[in-house]
Amino acid sequence: MSPAAGVGVHLEKKQKTEGSGGKGAPDQQDPKSKPKKKLYRARAHSNPLNDQSFDVPTTPDGIDWSEHFPCLASDGAGAGKEAEAAGGRVVEFLDVGCGFGGFLIKLADLYPEKLSLGLELRDKVSEYVKDRIDVLRENHEAEGLYRNVAIIRANAMRDLPHYFRKGQLTKVFFLFPDPHFKACNHRRRIISTPLLDEYAYFLAKGGILYTITDVEELGKWMRDHLDAHPLFRRISDEDLEGDKAAQFLPSASEEAQKVKRNEGKVRHSFVRPSGLSSLTAVTCDLCVAC
Ligand SMILES: C[S@@+](CC[C@H](N)C(=O)[O-])C[C@H]1O[C@@H](n2cnc3c(N)ncnc32)[C@H](O)[C@@H]1O
Repeated sequence: MSPAAGVGVHLEKKQKTEGSGGKGAPDQQDPKSKPKKKLYRARAHSNPLNDQSFDVPTTPDGIDWSEHFPCLASDGAGAGKEAEAAGGRVVEFLDVGCGFGGFLIKLADLYPEKLSLGLELRDKVSEYVKDRIDVLRENHEAEGLYRNVAIIRANAMRDLPHYFRKGQLTKVFFLFPDPHFKACNHRRRIISTPLLDEYAYFLAKGGILYTITDVEELGKWMRDHLDAHPLFRRISDEDLEGDKAAQFLPSASEEAQKVKRNEGKVRHSFVRPSGLSSLTAVTCDLCVAC
């Protein structure tokens, strides 16, 4: 389906849904404008430990990535599985819990040669990001932009082995993850020792895991778990000089912008998988004004 067709189908569905909800049909949406968030009403939170009823591929072998990344179809090395088998491009950058996609789209801008994928658990939010990308592709069709970015509705705490192979990812982002404040809900947190085992498995040697939050207690939780994990070590600020993505962590995502508006403090960590004998580097605690 062409991006333009995708947008059309979606808008038709949205208008119907809104109309049947008794609120009246929304104004005709210009297919070239950014989708309106108010048309994608989503629950504030989704429980990642609930059994969600959406399909996931059985294994990464079953995925034709050119359906998600149109640039693969035009790579010349064939599309999807064939391209991958022939050493073609694979997803390298993963924005886990990408929300409304601001940072994900920034990744596509910053790294046009890389494939960036967002994972989002909430259905309406992932639909919004898909439509946002479709509109961008349509608006930049002539330049062929945004064909290197995609979103999938998935539960990152459960589904990663269905999508990725060992050592495939070079950058994995956890930006402003849900804090799950109550102690009884800590098991829902996206950073935990067993999940770090999994993230280390999918990260490439020298790959980087990024976290950022404005919630002090969660920042400490994530740092403590990362520091205690034998497969990760902290990265110094110098190591990150020239890392284009790191510079946008405190500003590009929707949650980051909210924190900025509220003049909140952010705490971030950058870690690399290393070896069993690895060391922990220094914490980097920055306020947004820095
Ligand atoms: C607080 S929001 C932050 C969104 C975005 N990263 C940002 O900075 O604007 C956290 C997002 O993570 C999503 N999420 C939570 N658990 C998830 C999971 N297990 N898999 C995928 N997404 C998840 C939520 O639905 C929500 O959209």
